[in-house]
Amino acid sequence: MSDFEIVGKVSDFEEGQGRAVPVDGRMVAVFRLGDEWYAIDDLCPHMGASLAEGYVEDHTVTCPWHAWRFCIKDGAWEDNPRTRVDCFEVKVDGDDVLVREKSDSA
Ligand code: FES
Repeated sequence: MSDFEIVGKVSDFEEGQGRAVPVDGRMVAVFRLGDEWYAIDDLCPHMGASLAEGYVEDHTVTCPWHAWRFCIKDGAWEDNPRTRVDCFEVKVDGDDVLVREKSDSA
């Protein structure tokens, strides 16, 4: 299992929006919903848009390019949940936001 990496300060992340950050050599979309934090692979599996740029509603992010929708809790594509993007763990330690890949994401 990879170690947690600091990806920024809590204040760097806007409520209800995604922000793409580098983690372990790839881009990860981190979402802040109140006290809830989620992170999934930033790369849309359709044509590679940044999912962090997408529109977030409840626990769904809509890809900014062609509107594929993904659950930010587990990375599942809403139209076919057997397809999913990788999911990451997020924790807040003081003012730091940390991310690591989930051990069960494959
Ligand atoms: S690139 Fe995301 S839906 Fe097409």
